[in-house]
Amino acid sequence: MEKIIEHINSNIDGYVEELKEFLRIPSISTNPENRDDLRNCAEYVGKRLNEIGLENVKIYETELHPIVYGDWLKAGDDKPTILIYGHYDVQPVDPVELWTAPPFEPVIRGGNIFARGATDDKGQVFIHMKSIEAHMKNNSSLPVNVKFLIEGEEEIGSVNLDKFIESNKDLLKCDYVVVSDTSMFGEEIPSICYGLRGLAYMQVEVTGPNRDLHSGSFGGGVDNPINALAHIITKLKDDKGKILIDGFYDDVIDLSEKEREEYSKLPFNEAQYKEGLEIDEVFGEEGYSTLERVSARPTLDCNGIWGGFQGEGAKTVLPSKAAAKISMRLVPNQHPKKIEKLFTDYVNKIAPKTVKVKVKDLHGGMGALTPLDSPAMGAAVIAIKKAFGKDPLFTREGGSIPVVNVFQTILGAPTILLGFGLPDENAHSPDEHFNLKNFHRGILTAAYYLDELSKLKANNNGKS
Ligand code: BES
Ligand code: ZN
Repeated sequence: MEKIIEHINSNIDGYVEELKEFLRIPSISTNPENRDDLRNCAEYVGKRLNEIGLENVKIYETELHPIVYGDWLKAGDDKPTILIYGHYDVQPVDPVELWTAPPFEPVIRGGNIFARGATDDKGQVFIHMKSIEAHMKNNSSLPVNVKFLIEGEEEIGSVNLDKFIESNKDLLKCDYVVVSDTSMFGEEIPSICYGLRGLAYMQVEVTGPNRDLHSGSFGGGVDNPINALAHIITKLKDDKGKILIDGFYDDVIDLSEKEREEYSKLPFNEAQYKEGLEIDEVFGEEGYSTLERVSARPTLDCNGIWGGFQGEGAKTVLPSKAAAKISMRLVPNQHPKKIEKLFTDYVNKIAPKTVKVKVKDLHGGMGALTPLDSPAMGAAVIAIKKAFGKDPLFTREGGSIPVVNVFQTILGAPTILLGFGLPDENAHSPDEHFNLKNFHRGILTAAYYLDELSKLKANNNGKS
């Protein structure tokens, strides 16, 4: 391993330069106008996988953005097979005027690389490419069998991935899945995430009169869709953060006493948290700590709202339409399909009769808990300790990677969430960045991890 580690340490500056090329591709999966960029990005990933020595590299078409696959299966049948999953698509960049530098022109400032996708998830995908390259360059082989699966639709709910996994079970067969798309607790506080929330994403459209009206002539006589929408929204949650949708909490598994005890030991500083966000008070479900609320409890939030006049100055109008995008983060046992129905029924029940309401479900996904006792988890702890010089903590996170549940149920493979991001790296927001020290330690961890995994037995799941 020494030679491999030395190789990484002496090439790290070059890796950062190479990462910039990946970050320059504007692979915003939700934008139809970026469709060609997604294809270019998939081809870029495929090219890189070939270059680092993977075989059978193939770009699989889907109804929308391509999936990239590559493998190296020559470690022997007695060695485990790991599937490394990540995504090459990124979130939209708006509000673009709030970025210090353009989002697809990566720059380095203060030990961080800034660009859309830097931490979520291109920088983290790149970590695995470089750790594999380092093994290949020094040994012309890998210590375990490796499969790579990089998709382009994670940020829009992995809409075509489940079908792909379902129909390519043999191709993807593995002992363990490794995903680097989560965060560590702090720069010097390495951690492994063992739980993610699920998601149900809804759109509520409210229609009042058949056209926009003069608010002087009609105001007072006709209900206003914006007011009606606000009325609906305020009835979704009480002022203590509890969600009021009938049956919403039925399948929630509450935190155990043991888990709450572990949570309370995490070095979370609420004063610093508030300061960093410039807020005077935190807000969330009564009876739970902030860390519990943002990772192990379900939530409901408006993600966008529109209607009426949005321009400068004033226009006296009683609009015909208003709408909102509302998402609910779910805990692992809650099923998005069931929650979508409960939400729709509840909104229809509380909607004023003066307007027409249409509820659409945009997408959803299950949450996941990953096993803490799998041998691959033990190997991850050792790898982190070697690269970071410290034992990792165990945390749950509030974000969603719906495919993790699918890996566990369809492939029957435990997933290890070996993330190297940080919670304040502005994922999904302006000035997204990735800590370069963690980029470096991430490559070291991933390199050690391959070595540690080779000490485990294959459980025969990964043989093709
Ligand atoms: N990297 C995130 C997931 C994540 C975020 C994990 C924060 C842990 C903490 C991922 O790329 C993401 O943003 N996923 C979406 C999924 C959704 C569109 C189904 C999310 O969580 O909003
Ligand atoms: Zn994301």
